[in-house]
Amino acid sequence: MDKFIIEGGRRLFGSIRLQSAKNSVLPLFAASVLTDREVTIREVPDIADVRCMARILRELGASVRFEEGNAVIDSSNASSHRISSALTKELRSSVFMLGSLLTRFHRAAIAYPGGCDIGLRPIDLHLSALKRLGVDISERDGYILCECERLRGAELVLDFPSVGATENIMLAGVKAEGTTVLQGAAKEPEIVDLQSFLNAMGAKVSGAGTDTVVIQGVPSLGGVSFAPMKDRIEAGTFLIACAICGGEVEVKGVSAENIGLLIHKLRENGCKIHTKNDKIRISSYGRLKCNRRIETMPFPGFPTDLQAQIVALNAICEGGALIVENLFETRFKYVPELLKMGADIEVRGRTAFVRGKAGLHGASVTAGDLRGGAALVLAALGAEGVSEVNDLSHIDRGYSSFREKLLSLGAKIERVYD
Ligand code: UD1
Repeated sequence: MDKFIIEGGRRLFGSIRLQSAKNSVLPLFAASVLTDREVTIREVPDIADVRCMARILRELGASVRFEEGNAVIDSSNASSHRISSALTKELRSSVFMLGSLLTRFHRAAIAYPGGCDIGLRPIDLHLSALKRLGVDISERDGYILCECERLRGAELVLDFPSVGATENIMLAGVKAEGTTVLQGAAKEPEIVDLQSFLNAMGAKVSGAGTDTVVIQGVPSLGGVSFAPMKDRIEAGTFLIACAICGGEVEVKGVSAENIGLLIHKLRENGCKIHTKNDKIRISSYGRLKCNRRIETMPFPGFPTDLQAQIVALNAICEGGALIVENLFETRFKYVPELLKMGADIEVRGRTAFVRGKAGLHGASVTAGDLRGGAALVLAALGAEGVSEVNDLSHIDRGYSSFREKLLSLGAKIERVYD
């Protein structure tokens, strides 16, 4: 398995051009099978999750070409409604395929999804919403089998604002008979991106970004060429990297309100942050202070996808921090690895108690999930001495050219290929 060798202790300076958002691009791939016309998703990031999503579409019979960084998808020949367990186990986002396959074929068969090992990740909300739209659901041999004569619009309420369930309902409602009104929807910016994409195909979706999304069914959808939003989690990761290492870094392409709470927390740490249009510039000098308390919440709350990185930062700040993970119950699995680097963190259930140390030291650690892995890289960049971050497969799922971008900021990081 590939690994990073990182020599810590260098300040970071420079500017980062962000990739398109992983969490926007993946549902857009799923949405591409809603039409038999050509769909172009521009500037897709070169990450393992995107390649896996392309394999899923090909398995259905679609053609997916990557040309100059764009993905060109033609699903006119798609004829299968079944996704093999090998692929759905690799990528949990394949659950979005339920909504779009039901719209396209009125049938879908997918194995129980996999993805990061960060908790139970049930899909009950997806399935009960689909039932309300007229879908019969059964289970056989580890597969979820969905079938309907036609999809019918309905009034739905989500008990929890699940991102994936909101997106799945949009994908299932877009050509349903009548109107679907979804209350309690997730409000993440990626959902607004999906709405823009669907409407560019000829759909009638409104309200994304608020807690009520209205989907008026339309008879057909056309092709589209679409540039997705930039990755706010990647932006946050680089801002936190700079906070940890010191220096000055600018990220371009993401609006400050999409990571408003992170910016607030970094200012609380003592970083200086300037925002202008789609640019965010951070400068970090001297020892920072711990955040007293951070709780992960659905948008616009603090993103769970930045929880591990902010813990890595607090581990070297002055004072103590209490970080509460409300979304995924086992999302502190990276903490024992940070302890190997000298961090002082105690996890009790959903809460991490961080006691800030003056600095961490290099160690050999292993990345067990995507964001936890990124946090280990950041901690190693700020630590004294040399670290090895083993098993890059999870990090490769979500960050394109991670090493190259860090090198461009002045980090010392090598990749050893296995
Ligand atoms: C998406 C993101 C992921 C992010 C997460 C929360 C993508 C591809 N992934 O994941 O990076 O960490 O949002 O911001 O966009 N839940 C249920 N039943 C369900 C569905 C969800 O109980 O049917 C629970 C989950 O266990 C979890 C919470 O709801 O506790 C949030 O999950 P959800 O918003 O659905 O996250 P994902 O869409 O999987």
